[in-house]
Amino acid sequence: MNSSSTPSRRLTPLDRLLDGTQRALDTVFGAPRAERANPAATEADVVLDETERRHAAGLMRINHVGEVCAQALYCGQAAVARDPATERHLLDAAQEETDHLAWCADRLRELDSRPSLFNPLWYGGSYAIGVLAGLRGDGWNLGFVVETERQVEAHIDEHLTSLPEADIRSRAILEVMKADEARHADNAEAAGARVLPPPIPTVMAAASKLMKAVAYRL
Ligand SMILES: [Fe+2]
Ligand SMILES: [Fe+2]
Repeated sequence: MNSSSTPSRRLTPLDRLLDGTQRALDTVFGAPRAERANPAATEADVVLDETERRHAAGLMRINHVGEVCAQALYCGQAAVARDPATERHLLDAAQEETDHLAWCADRLRELDSRPSLFNPLWYGGSYAIGVLAGLRGDGWNLGFVVETERQVEAHIDEHLTSLPEADIRSRAILEVMKADEARHADNAEAAGARVLPPPIPTVMAAASKLMKAVAYRL
């Protein structure tokens, strides 16, 4: 996670409301700007046939939704975090996910496709889950970060196998995202994450499976 950043002053309720609203609108309707260069930029843009293009677009739409959910989850958790250090940790995590969001959006455009029509819904649902997790306490908050990042890392792995062989631009993006997500999980573990008890990881995996089935098409 990007820990360069902003001093860890406690945000006022109005700061949080404005910041949270701005982030939500940017994530769902805006065009978030990446701080790092797109890893696909140096790869050849190989022309895919129609079946390959549609499949790659479906997978990259899932990855884009995953990043929308990560932003929302972290912002929801940060809104109710008790310790300013945890709050900062969560907001910094959301910031670094912005690169992923922007890269996935770029690739969707290159594939003549678009983000999920349900992004406002995915954002709202994930934000609510984030708030509920955060209300359980900061160890739980970080436990959710670990579980989310590990699940995202696992589905990126599946996508790296499933993407059309020729789609080296999507693959370049996913390789960097996978390394980032693993680091995010490690950082949250080091910051004192609790291991989430059953059935929470199973419920999260089921919700993610539903999201993936819908987002592949819509
Ligand atoms: Fe991410
Ligand atoms: Fe992440």
